[in-house]
Amino acid sequence: MVESRVSFDSLAPWYAGLERVLAGPLLQRARTHWAGQLAGRRRLLVAGVGHGPGLVALLRQYPALTAVAVDASGRMLEAARARAGRAGIAPGRLEFVHAPLAEWNAPAGEFDAVATHFFLDCFPADELRAVVAHLARAAARDADWLVTDFSVPATGWRRQRARAVHALMYAFFRPATGLRARHVVPPDAFLAAAGFRCRGRRRWNHGLVQADWWRRSAQEAPPSVVAGQA
Ligand SMILES: C[S@@+](CC[C@H](N)C(=O)[O-])C[C@H]1O[C@@H](n2cnc3c(N)ncnc32)[C@H](O)[C@@H]1O
Repeated sequence: MVESRVSFDSLAPWYAGLERVLAGPLLQRARTHWAGQLAGRRRLLVAGVGHGPGLVALLRQYPALTAVAVDASGRMLEAARARAGRAGIAPGRLEFVHAPLAEWNAPAGEFDAVATHFFLDCFPADELRAVVAHLARAAARDADWLVTDFSVPATGWRRQRARAVHALMYAFFRPATGLRARHVVPPDAFLAAAGFRCRGRRRWNHGLVQADWWRRSAQEAPPSVVAGQA
């Protein structure tokens, strides 16, 4: 799996404040929009957990849920750990993995819930394909996957506006973190190839931000996934 070296460490101390100033409550509204679909799920994987607001919201909502949170940035993980502590999440419910996703040997088929919040939009197409495949292998045959990302409407002034806003964002994040992505690549085709189907989609701010709920049914899981769990 090809993956570039990325570090959000230098942004970690400012990240939550930056979000509050630039987006207010919008991103958290998007992260939590489909949370209700995870009722009854037991084991959650959060990739690119960052400072952890999506993770902590899910753990608070579902007291029986345990989670693994992966991130390449140690300082982001410190922020997520502190947030979980402040929220009173028992440390035993939560495992943090400090590693680039490609270097994490994910247990196959372990997670019946996956959440990626503003993570998939960090990757150019070649990396995104591998990232989605990696997470899909870790997901159970009938897993739910909550995907929240910046997005680009299909046509019109909303599309032009989103592209302009994203261009500014990537112009900031690329030099600050080492991201290779230059624009948002929709992960839909890669999720579909892994057997997931989009069951719900909600957009905000004229299509600038999008939250999806994807689910894979055991029948739709590709043979490699089924074999991995046999
Ligand atoms: C844009 S931030 C989003 C953080 C958080 N999920 C949120 O909702 O705000 C992307 C996060 O993904 C992490 N990240 C980026 N590339 C990664 C990779 N290849 N492996 C693991 N983590 C990565 C970064 O360190 C950062 O914490």
